[in-house]
Amino acid sequence: MSMGTRPRAAGPPRWFEASPRRRGATAPALLFWVLGIAVFVLPFFRQPFSAEWVNSDDPRSAKNWKAEDQPYNELDVPFKEDLAYYDKDLASELGGKSLAEFVNTASEEYFGVKSSYLRDSGVIEVGRLASGRKTYEAECAGCHGIDGANTVPGDGGGPAARFMHPRPRNFRKGKFKFTSTATGERPMRKDLYRTVTNGLAGSSMPSFKLLTDERRKDVVEYVRYIAMRGEFEEMLLSITIDDGSLPDAKEYADLVSERWDERKLSSVFPSTPETQNDAASIARGKALYMDTSRANCVSCHGETGVGDGPSAKAFKDEWGYPIVPRDFTGGVYRSGGENAQLWTVIATGIGGTPMAAFAGSLSSDEIWDVVHYVRSLERKEN
Ligand code: HEC
Ligand code: HEC
Repeated sequence: MSMGTRPRAAGPPRWFEASPRRRGATAPALLFWVLGIAVFVLPFFRQPFSAEWVNSDDPRSAKNWKAEDQPYNELDVPFKEDLAYYDKDLASELGGKSLAEFVNTASEEYFGVKSSYLRDSGVIEVGRLASGRKTYEAECAGCHGIDGANTVPGDGGGPAARFMHPRPRNFRKGKFKFTSTATGERPMRKDLYRTVTNGLAGSSMPSFKLLTDERRKDVVEYVRYIAMRGEFEEMLLSITIDDGSLPDAKEYADLVSERWDERKLSSVFPSTPETQNDAASIARGKALYMDTSRANCVSCHGETGVGDGPSAKAFKDEWGYPIVPRDFTGGVYRSGGENAQLWTVIATGIGGTPMAAFAGSLSSDEIWDVVHYVRSLERKEN
């Protein structure tokens, strides 16, 4: 199936409004704008929306990303447009039934805030949603998506998103990166809470430590809610496209609620306590890291850990955007950077990215060795 994106209208810039100004202030103001534009805007024109932050021989260079790589200003899932498009496209196949109406009605019935199905399922603490939504709209929507003409909350297409790399998470695909659950499973509340509290170092996801504990819990609940609802809607859409007929909505509502039901999820990692972090462990970790028939971290993260391994070229994440292996020498980790979190990342992988899960191929103690080796690559002057 092809989810072609149609061009979107760009409105006039609203921040550029004339304001009365004293005569003498014109020259300094002009200087301010000229310098401001030179410093902040020109770099984008030189290399429109590409992240050319490394030299061109480097496999991680944006030059190695192909022309057909998704431009940064496009949404990976323009849900409303796709729904309207396939509503027309499939009308005759569906015998006159409206796909859009089917999806919207089912979404309201199973995952509307007043849905008795949702309340009875116990998967969402419905009482937190009103407050969570307020916080989301004030603090998160600018990046993670607003209720707009073409965008929906949680689709990662907020007005600020186009300039970010990596992009703000689209919550509607059921994929999260920093989870303590088994590979591919939905996150626990505490995983999302940790991300909201600490932010994701090295990306534009900020820390929200300043929000009270209760408000963070409310917004986490709202994120779970829009993620579930979004996953359900996307599922109904793509199944209808694939089958050419309307599916049994309840069956998929059950499937999605089950996936998000925290009573059925558990934090499985790390599975054994940390081993001694000494020279012997680091040496064992290094051997595994370099071993091309086992862990083979070197193929992506490179000999020195800067992320320039031979397979590091032109990776894309499952949201469709270019991605590079982490540079370990900076010592900045999105999962939070404690050894236990690195253990979990290596064991379970990073959802939606080429960073694979190693729980099957390395023992728990071997993973600790690799963690100790990775940490030893941090530049010491940091
Ligand atoms: C300035 C932009 C920005 C704002 C504001 C922002 N985020 Fe994010 N957020 C991001 C980016 C960028 C990522 C993706 C980082 C990555 O892929 O490593 C992200 C990722 C996430 C994730 C996914 C973590 C995972 O495991 O995959 C969650 C959950 C999240 N944000 C929640 C929130 C919540 C809740 C708020 C508001 C309280 C918020 N964000 C505000 C930019 C933002
Ligand atoms: C197929 C390529 C590939 C292989 C093999 C690979 N990685 Fe990664 N790794 C990645 C990518 C890509 C990222 C960045 C993901 C992101 O930005 O969300 C990453 C990220 C990481 C992170 C960053 C976690 C954080 O919290 O920021 C660590 C640690 C890591 N890898 C360790 C390893 C170790 C150890 C091995 C070997 C056991 C390994 N990786 C093998 C591609 C790979």
